[in-house]
Amino acid sequence: MKRILSILACVACVSAHGQKFEQLDQTPQMGWNSWNKFQCDVNEELIRETAAAMATNGMKDAGYQYINIDDCWQGQRDAHGFIQPDPKRFPSGMKALADYVHSKGLKFGIYSDAGAKTCGGRPASRGHEYQDALTYAQWGVDYLKYDWCGGEDLKAQGAYTTMRDALYAAGRPIVFSMCEWGDNKPWLWAKDIGHSWRTTTDITPCFDCDVDHKTWHQWGVLQILDAQKPLRKYAGPGHWNDPDMLEVGNGMSVNEDRAHFSMWCMLAAPLISGNDLRNMSKETLGILANKEVIAVDQDVLGIEAFVYSKKRCWMLEHLFIRNKTTWKDGVEIWFKPLGGDSWAMCVLNRNKEAKKISFDWKKEKVADSFSKREAHFDTTTYSLRNLWLKAGAGDTSKTLKAEVPDHDVLMLRLDKM
Ligand code: GLA
Repeated sequence: MKRILSILACVACVSAHGQKFEQLDQTPQMGWNSWNKFQCDVNEELIRETAAAMATNGMKDAGYQYINIDDCWQGQRDAHGFIQPDPKRFPSGMKALADYVHSKGLKFGIYSDAGAKTCGGRPASRGHEYQDALTYAQWGVDYLKYDWCGGEDLKAQGAYTTMRDALYAAGRPIVFSMCEWGDNKPWLWAKDIGHSWRTTTDITPCFDCDVDHKTWHQWGVLQILDAQKPLRKYAGPGHWNDPDMLEVGNGMSVNEDRAHFSMWCMLAAPLISGNDLRNMSKETLGILANKEVIAVDQDVLGIEAFVYSKKRCWMLEHLFIRNKTTWKDGVEIWFKPLGGDSWAMCVLNRNKEAKKISFDWKKEKVADSFSKREAHFDTTTYSLRNLWLKAGAGDTSKTLKAEVPDHDVLMLRLDKM
């Protein structure tokens, strides 16, 4: 009898594992994270003030939810191995902080790492996964970013599965944001493990840069964007490609910030702001809280955009035309299928000078074999709305002519008339 009971208990415990919280993150997660601006300089005042700012400055109203502390919140483990926050920086403890964030109608996120130490050298979760997941659940955590420093001698799929199972066993629905920098191609195996996975190394607030730190690189907006192009087929509701957190408001020009934000929305990327929300310019807030642009990111289909190129002879296109229309003149036209037979279009000017564009709709046919969506501009007219000017921009019966400023975008929404 005893044996049968223990077998039953074991079956119950196995069936309680082996999955992620499926209903979470059906549209890309939106929030804030401390790392890009503050790195290790985090404390409870910063988190409280940031939550208070997000709740009142229009961002919460625009859809932002998560207030996430990145690395360096950790103190030591106690005698039983339970992780404690740094007592100087978080004297009131994490439960009180989570309660405060929840009292603002927001959600609370935290950070750990699959190795023994985080990238910032704090205690991480290796060997403590179930204990940490239980602790997070008791604190009221809603989101876990899980990093990969010290992961070299681990198998990524196994390490991330262990933490997924630990979170599930702890019973509190927690968004699981995987951060192994794309090293092990998580898009091929993580759909049932994480709600999102980083696809590249860390971002830096620069539009077009590759910063060499000898043992690792940081990439600018264009470098990260280019790495997303082959990955769109792997993402969808509940399992997103994550091209890293936003650098809007962290030092790029307004044009660059606008282009960065627009492209992340075209990619259906998680929108995790990374600037000082307590102290930002009107322009920065205007970018982060533009609801019409955010609606492109949060569209119900969850399909990423692709770079448009005219279908012609493969040879010609490969040798000349694609080079000419996208790379050589540095202008890319991206299309994203939206619900209700609509589209978003984003003309990205990668150049340091303005470019004129002309797009004769009647001569173009946008077809996406992945989503099986097509736009026939010769037979169907779409109205155009400029999402940054928040104004109508005519329709597709006339050739689109525009000048796109340096490092900027023209972003339009197309709705069938
Ligand atoms: C890694 C991650 C970053 C950040 C730092 C913290 O570099 O990719 O996003 O979390 O660690 O140390």
